[in-house]
Amino acid sequence: MLHDRPDIRYLFEPRSVAVIGASHNEDKIGYKILENIVSGGYEGRIIPVNPKGGEILGLPVSRTLEDAGGEIDLVVTSVPAKYAVDAVKGAADLGAKFNLVITSGFSEVGNIEEERELTRYSVERGMRIIGPNIFGMYSASSKLDANFGPGGICAGSVAIITQSGALGLAMIGKTAVENVGISAMVSVGNKADIEEADLLEYLMADELTRVVLMYIEGVGDGDRLVDVLEKATRRKPVVVIKSGRSKRGAVAAASHTGSLAGSDEVFDAIMRQCGVLRAESVQEAFNLCKFLSTTSMPAGENVVIVTNGGGIGVLATDACEKYDVTLYDDNETMKNIFDPVTPAFGSTKNPIDLTGGATSADFTGALDAALEHEEIDAVISLYCETAVFDADNLSTMIEETSVKYKAAGKPIVFSVFGGSTTEEAQAMLSRKRVPVFGDVYETVACLGGLYSHWRHATGEPAGIDEEEIDQTAIEEILAGAREDGRSFLLAHEGEEVLRAAGILMPETRIARSLDEAVAAGEEIGFPVVMKVVSRDILHKSDVGGVALDLENRDEVIDAYQAIMSNCRSRVPGARIDGIQVSEMAASGVELIVGARRDPAFGPTIMFGMGGIYVEVLKDVTFRAVPFSRSEAIEMMKEIRAYPLLLGVRGEERKDIESVLDTIIRLGTVIQRCDGISDIEVNPLRAYEQGLGAKAVDVRVLLSETSGGGTDA
Ligand code: ACO
Repeated sequence: MLHDRPDIRYLFEPRSVAVIGASHNEDKIGYKILENIVSGGYEGRIIPVNPKGGEILGLPVSRTLEDAGGEIDLVVTSVPAKYAVDAVKGAADLGAKFNLVITSGFSEVGNIEEERELTRYSVERGMRIIGPNIFGMYSASSKLDANFGPGGICAGSVAIITQSGALGLAMIGKTAVENVGISAMVSVGNKADIEEADLLEYLMADELTRVVLMYIEGVGDGDRLVDVLEKATRRKPVVVIKSGRSKRGAVAAASHTGSLAGSDEVFDAIMRQCGVLRAESVQEAFNLCKFLSTTSMPAGENVVIVTNGGGIGVLATDACEKYDVTLYDDNETMKNIFDPVTPAFGSTKNPIDLTGGATSADFTGALDAALEHEEIDAVISLYCETAVFDADNLSTMIEETSVKYKAAGKPIVFSVFGGSTTEEAQAMLSRKRVPVFGDVYETVACLGGLYSHWRHATGEPAGIDEEEIDQTAIEEILAGAREDGRSFLLAHEGEEVLRAAGILMPETRIARSLDEAVAAGEEIGFPVVMKVVSRDILHKSDVGGVALDLENRDEVIDAYQAIMSNCRSRVPGARIDGIQVSEMAASGVELIVGARRDPAFGPTIMFGMGGIYVEVLKDVTFRAVPFSRSEAIEMMKEIRAYPLLLGVRGEERKDIESVLDTIIRLGTVIQRCDGISDIEVNPLRAYEQGLGAKAVDVRVLLSETSGGGTDA
């Protein structure tokens, strides 16, 4: 019988902790963990377990876990892999709730079976596994330092979840140097059971945690991660560093969507969709955490730069554009606010330039004026070292200003740039947890991160939009292809899928004779396109199976005969089901919409510039499915070619509604039809407003296929 999952609270706030493999030897990991637990000030019951018994660090040692008796919330397993499986199973039998399996030597070295067995056995008995292959965890709420890091972690408000052990351990040291206080830190290692999403469920409600920082290498249950992240980012900022930005993870698939969907692009876009802040480097992540864990939330978007340097002000202005920070530009109001505190030769336009002669009192005057004015929502304060500035007052000025802003609930971010005086001030302020940055871009990136989080957290939840599709008809088409032993759909079948999904296409008929072809051409209206329909001919153009731009009856007759003879001579024995006669689609803006099942995130959708150069241009963006219409609009705005849809150089606006409709409908198909692994429309031609967007070509791959081709 499966047991209920224990409440995740018992991981972070255990009432008792047992260390299996607590060693008498001070150099061993089992000793270090026990030492950290004891010296960290954990107040619950501590149970060292070692068959030798005796005493370690003044604590009586149990020879077995069973001997210890009582309820055990958390076990730390630190014995070699060959003993660890039995030790973990034994703890599960005794009803322990969580087990931090420190031991290496499992799936990370190919020992997948034992890891699976250990996890299955434990989970079935209601014990959750963290790891294996981890360095442990820290939780400020229970003063529990159960890891083999350097010890002496300072408590604070940043929670860290890390998949990398070494990086995580190094972060402990780095957080101490940078004085970033930690509310919790969990090493997740091989993620055999507990994943980021489980931990986020606790951390998003944890009062000590103001920011969550995650280092991720690979995503297991992406669907669940998206679900939890969407909720978590509404409550507090989540910063992610993900390694593996290379193309290696890209699936070599037969569709453009597959090859463009390098795991990193998909990850990046989905993190944005979830409101997560993605950091490029550990330093950027630390900067964001330092700022976000101490700042107030803004009330609006009006940001003012106050500086004593013209050049640095311009740099900051550029950075604001890059990080999507809105500079307040009501010059009249700015003049009223800053005229009394700015020298006559300075500037009261954004950036406010107090000029090189500014003293700490001048900065205080301008920053107070900005603080007091309700039109101003946040401030970037940039200081360049000058000889006339009373540098001894720099840190006091920043600290006092920071306190005033915090009390008023208005964000302010500081940058100081110069020599040893500014570095000393920065270090002194860091000890007091007042974040001050050096580089202007670093500084503005922090405020950009705050605004990105704030917009997401205060915006309307996106919801889900789907469209009606004829799922039964689609399933029938898929079943037919599977009966044929195919892992892809033929062109006309793909078109039938689009028709069942309500997606607009050029008008088309299948002709099974010359007469039918002529009749089809006349019904559709010239010019038309003709293509052979055959499951044995994948590359139709290569064998002369396609004829374009047929203007009249005679050209249709000639083309029909040419296609038939080409195909019969070049692919002898090919089964020819007919010839497709289609409306020759007028030219328009060529887009691509592709939906596929991502190995980590499940159904995803890609939208971008289409046509034959799609992989060269790479002007595409992704989302997890399902999503809302407003998210589809955001997708559209993200691509560089978006102005083409709005109409450039006097062109009319394109039928954006129809493009959105196609995106949502294809999203609905991949969401509902498990049998499809990839469905890609390329090109989708967007015409002028009111004339729609038409799917000119479609490729469909079936799920659970091994490298199937497409009908191109
Ligand atoms: N129950 C309780 N205690 C036991 C048991 C048991 N079933 N079996 C053995 N022990 C005791 C041993 O007697 C020993 O105690 P002693 O030193 O007093 O004699 C203690 O447990 C430890 O056992 P050892 O065999 O000495 O194992 P050792 O400490 O050398 O290694 C460890 C164990 C640390 C788990 C090791 O196998 C391992 O996996 N190391 C890698 C850990 C790691 O790097 N994890 C990833 C972290 S992240 C990163 O990469 C930095």
